[in-house]
Amino acid sequence: MGSLRRSILLLLIAVLAMVASSSASTDPVHAQHGMVTSWHELASKAGVEIMQAGGNAVDAAVATGFALAVVHPSAGNIGGGGFMLLRMADGTTHFLDYREKAPAAATRDMYLDAQGKVIEGASLYGYKAIAVPGSVAGMVYAERKWGKLSLKQVMAPAIRLAREGYELSWAEARDMHDRHLAEYAESRRVFQRNGDYYKPGDIFRQPDLARTLERIAENPDDFYHGSLAKELAAAIQKGGGLITADDLAHYEAKEREPVRGTYRGYEVISSPPPSSGGAVLIESLNILEGFDLAKMGERSAESMHFILEAFRRAFFDRAEFLGDPDFAKIPVAQLIDKKYAAAWRETIDPIHATPSKDLKRPAVFSQLEQYAAANPPAMAPRDSTHTTHYSVVDAEGNAVAVTTTLNGWFGSRVTADGLGFLLNDEMDDFSAKAGAPNGDNLIQGTANAIGPGKRPLSSMTPTIVVHDGKTVMVLGSPGSSKIITTVANVLMGVVDYGMNIQEAVNAPRFHNQWMPDVVNVEQWFSPDTTNALQRMGYTLEVGLHYPSGVEPYWSDAECIAIDEKTGERLGAADFRHDGKAVGY
Ligand code: DON
Repeated sequence: MGSLRRSILLLLIAVLAMVASSSASTDPVHAQHGMVTSWHELASKAGVEIMQAGGNAVDAAVATGFALAVVHPSAGNIGGGGFMLLRMADGTTHFLDYREKAPAAATRDMYLDAQGKVIEGASLYGYKAIAVPGSVAGMVYAERKWGKLSLKQVMAPAIRLAREGYELSWAEARDMHDRHLAEYAESRRVFQRNGDYYKPGDIFRQPDLARTLERIAENPDDFYHGSLAKELAAAIQKGGGLITADDLAHYEAKEREPVRGTYRGYEVISSPPPSSGGAVLIESLNILEGFDLAKMGERSAESMHFILEAFRRAFFDRAEFLGDPDFAKIPVAQLIDKKYAAAWRETIDPIHATPSKDLKRPAVFSQLEQYAAANPPAMAPRDSTHTTHYSVVDAEGNAVAVTTTLNGWFGSRVTADGLGFLLNDEMDDFSAKAGAPNGDNLIQGTANAIGPGKRPLSSMTPTIVVHDGKTVMVLGSPGSSKIITTVANVLMGVVDYGMNIQEAVNAPRFHNQWMPDVVNVEQWFSPDTTNALQRMGYTLEVGLHYPSGVEPYWSDAECIAIDEKTGERLGAADFRHDGKAVGY
């Protein structure tokens, strides 16, 4: 071997050895400089590649986001929306809302039949379920404002993955068999090769998507204002959807103030409306701060009882108050007030579950009482099965948490003709009708009724935790309503129970969302614990029960901690779906 070739080989081996990556064990992945955790190894690697090329955490987050649109098509997206939370090394924070918006032609009752009943599946599948996508606007905005590199540079890995393809795993090949995808010709062509289904080990190339990504990299405004916007609107309208070129032209990503709270000396920064995530998370933690959870023991029936009661109360408030802040005044300040939490705490019986139907909101803030009296809670439509979260920390200490979604698994199942990407069914996150149950049985208030130009309420909870002025955790997950309780479970795992971030991600999750009055526990709890909870009055379900079957576990927390003493980046991917932490 020539000496030049040998040096190149040695250099390559050295670089590979420096990139730490693994699936989850009980140890997080350790790295000195930067870290990305995401659902897919190739997407995490795209972010690391960009940091190694001189990019910061925002460059890496945008690279990972676009890469997920290629390698995780059921949830990663350019046809959906999301939230990005940033905490820069100097302590400044930013929250970017690129949630989808209802088209101008949307109406409050658009998913009801002549008898006023919710039309099954109408807000979930097909063209009418699509809301105006925000992901491209959000990622471009973030890149321009906070990134160091060019959009072309950060999109290069995604374009390469789309053009050259990637090898499909068994699970990825299986997932593309989705029967609803088969109902839309373009989706059937792109993801199912017209019935000649992809097999594990096949290389999945997406030339249409590669071209669309190249067009965005070349001229990002084209997606909302140019020929791409026209093609997209035409493709949606051809199928009977409501979105026009004008809707796309009026879309804008918005910076908002994140929600902030404190928990046992940690600062918790999280997502504001139109997400319910930050408010519900902080309200729950505020209630819990008054209990010595550590003393009760990790996942003891006693500590679980108090945590479940806090979740129940915060989700009760979610149902009533949360929606798009551009359309209604959302009383977040009152909900996350420690006085209000203290009053809620008084209503918790130490040894019995409170039936959800008997909850009575404590009279602390007259605004809450007046609002609740005037706005009976409405039921939401389905809130189903897919979303993805990724976390990034760079060498300077900038941190980014992004949760992004098509809402459903493969979204509306509609692929825009010739453009190669799936469109969301985010309209389903609105309340279709007062009193109609949701796929996740979430109940939401009139603040979340459908309206033109409105953003549907979300549960996405990208969260950053600060201690002594330093970022110590970057958290988030998919999982619909379980997102919030997953983030809370991980955060309490570290703060209350002294787990490392990987142990906290691994630990069994439990969930209560007020209605239905059921506690869901992952499959790993002992019968002693579940029996004790049942004796306290809880109705328990092991796993999530859907008409299609039982899911024994849920969510996909892709998190990072920063060691307070050494500054090491500790990446914790979720073993439940084989996520990947990659650091260098
Ligand atoms: O924004 C939301 O809250 C929902 N569209 C998220 C859906 C979801 O997380 C499904 N994930 N498994």
